[in-house]
Amino acid sequence: MKTTSSYLRVLLFVIVAFVLFEVTIDSGDQWAFQKYPIIWAVLGVLTLFAVAIEIAVEAMRSILFRSLKAESKERFLQLQSEAKQNNWFNKTYQKLVGKSKPIEEESEIILDHNYDGIRELDNQLPPWWVYMFYLTIIFAGVYLTRYEILGADDTHTEYEKEVAQAEKEIAEWKKTAKDLVDVNTVTLLTDKEDLDKGKAIFTTNCVACHKADGGGGIGPNLTDEYWILGGGIKNVFHTISEGGRDGKGMVAWKGDLKPLEIQEVASYVLSLQGTTPANPKEPQGEIWKEEN
Ligand code: HEC
Repeated sequence: MKTTSSYLRVLLFVIVAFVLFEVTIDSGDQWAFQKYPIIWAVLGVLTLFAVAIEIAVEAMRSILFRSLKAESKERFLQLQSEAKQNNWFNKTYQKLVGKSKPIEEESEIILDHNYDGIRELDNQLPPWWVYMFYLTIIFAGVYLTRYEILGADDTHTEYEKEVAQAEKEIAEWKKTAKDLVDVNTVTLLTDKEDLDKGKAIFTTNCVACHKADGGGGIGPNLTDEYWILGGGIKNVFHTISEGGRDGKGMVAWKGDLKPLEIQEVASYVLSLQGTTPANPKEPQGEIWKEEN
């Protein structure tokens, strides 16, 4: 009799059961039915149950129906079709469409005025349309109050605020992500703490060729203002990172030292400028002047 809704009920039942399983069973970042395949079996059994119940109910209903007297049968069918007419969906639909005349009856309500062939149709506005119109009025009121009277941010200001916030966060992040320095962004460090770290790196890796006081040996004197490969933090960073000229003995350190460490040792090397080492090597290269 009403098989379609039985199908729908069973389907709905299975979906609800499925969702309940997913919601109530803690399965980490996996789906519960992936983690516990048994759920499929349980769902299967539950579905069979639901189908069985539907079949039983339907059978009972038709037995009862057959046992009814002829006039009751008629009454029953009438009630059933009335119930169908009066269901929630139909009622709402009727409410929204309202009492506007259908197109076939429009000739009854067309007005006599004739403006160069354009005539007015005095139909009732469908309620769905009227409601939407009211909504736009309310929206306009809220909008006007919010932006023109209370002065909320317009999209432009919102955008600028978000960009400013993002820039703040990037700056914050860069502070903790110092290893991000490269030859273009490197700056001279002057904090004692950083220079001490640079000195430790220098002592471990560089003194064999540059001497503990930077006076030079195999490698050039790092305390004078003469530079073979260029002075200033950017050039020194580059030399340490990429190495000197081929075959001279200064290797590229970027494989052994992190960018931050290169920045520290480069800053330390530059802090040796103007000191007087015990046994300085003669100047090599050119006098370096920082150009701004
Ligand atoms: C194996 C020996 C050796 C070691 C170890 C060494 N250097 Fe050098 N370094 C040299 C030589 C040789 C040069 C000259 C390169 C050239 O002429 O191209 C040089 C050049 C340099 C320069 C450029 C000097 C200029 O005049 O332009 C800097 C800066 C420097 N070294 C820093 C370091 C630092 C920092 C370390 C440790 C991380 C280090 N070196 C380790 C041999 C060495």
